[in-house]
Amino acid sequence: MADSEIDQEPTQQVEAARKAFEQEFERFARFTGSSANLSGLSLEQAIAELRLLGELRTRHLGKKSALASSKKMIGRVAPELRASYGQLVQSIEIALLQTLDEAEQNLKNYIEAERTILESIDVTMPGRRPRRGHRHPITLVRERLEDIFVALGYAIEDGREIETDFYNFDALNIPENHPARASQDTFYTKEGFALRSQTSTVQIHAMQRRGVPVRMIAPGRVFRRDTPDPTHNPMFFQVEGLCVDRGITMAHLKGTVAELLRRMFGPDTKTRFRPSYFPFTEPSAEFDFSCFKCKGAGCRICKNSGWIELGGSGMVHPNVLRAVGVDPGEFSGFAFGFGIDRMCSLMYELDDIRLLFENDVRFLEQFE
Ligand code: DAH
Repeated sequence: MADSEIDQEPTQQVEAARKAFEQEFERFARFTGSSANLSGLSLEQAIAELRLLGELRTRHLGKKSALASSKKMIGRVAPELRASYGQLVQSIEIALLQTLDEAEQNLKNYIEAERTILESIDVTMPGRRPRRGHRHPITLVRERLEDIFVALGYAIEDGREIETDFYNFDALNIPENHPARASQDTFYTKEGFALRSQTSTVQIHAMQRRGVPVRMIAPGRVFRRDTPDPTHNPMFFQVEGLCVDRGITMAHLKGTVAELLRRMFGPDTKTRFRPSYFPFTEPSAEFDFSCFKCKGAGCRICKNSGWIELGGSGMVHPNVLRAVGVDPGEFSGFAFGFGIDRMCSLMYELDDIRLLFENDVRFLEQFE
């Protein structure tokens, strides 16, 4: 019975191959049959299981699998046993394939269903609007000022916040011993640069850069050694104006400032000029405008005077023109400057200028 012994071996081999498969397949058994249950499996887990199943398929049904070598044996078993052996091998192969196919199909269905749930969106849900910021009240006022002056043919200049004494003082005809230079008023860096204490510095930069004739405004930050209180802050905003051309007179200055204030505070706004002194203008004047709230009758905003003081102005001093190489015999000009923060706190009736710098959102939110 030597023959049957030889033939026994392939049968055992193919049965062993089936057993090995069944053992390894055990952990995937829950993906097959009528009670197949994949719930609780995450999408990532399901994808990983599917990959492992693919590997199992290669191991047990691939070219190098035990089953593949059993198939090769079919031609070598004794002819009388060949048919039954062949059927055995084939039925095992079919069983393995069906089991694997079923588990894979169930996993694939599950993965697709999970993906659909994850990727689906409810288009009827109300959208979530991103929270938009908005402009700071000082920016709002600055932009209104810029619009007005651009409409009057002025350019907008950007100065620098750190200056040399030349721009901050000398070129503006502020002499060496002038009190404005005192370190009580001005911040200096260790290297001797000044944080500009006024935007008038931009007059000099603008004339150097553009030459004359020139019409420009320069809004920007200025710095002074002040202790913060309801009306002072060591950093605040000013806007500077400069107009230099042939034949510019004080009438042009008055007309321009009056027009600005009418556009800012309404067509009935009256403007008045009071003689004053600034080193960089001659003559110099401070300007006030009629109270936009009480129209001159007297109220809290204008401290019952009917007028609100705003800024300084005057005819550009010949020394300032000379400092930038402009002949005062040929050209003349006017300049003015005022605080944007002050204008802002007047317009919005703020009691305390510090509100503009604390950046409390509950305050800022009111200025849409
Ligand atoms: N720079 C002055 C200040 O800070 C304001 C000023 C006054 C500007 C007269 C001017 C001017 O251009 O002509 O107080």
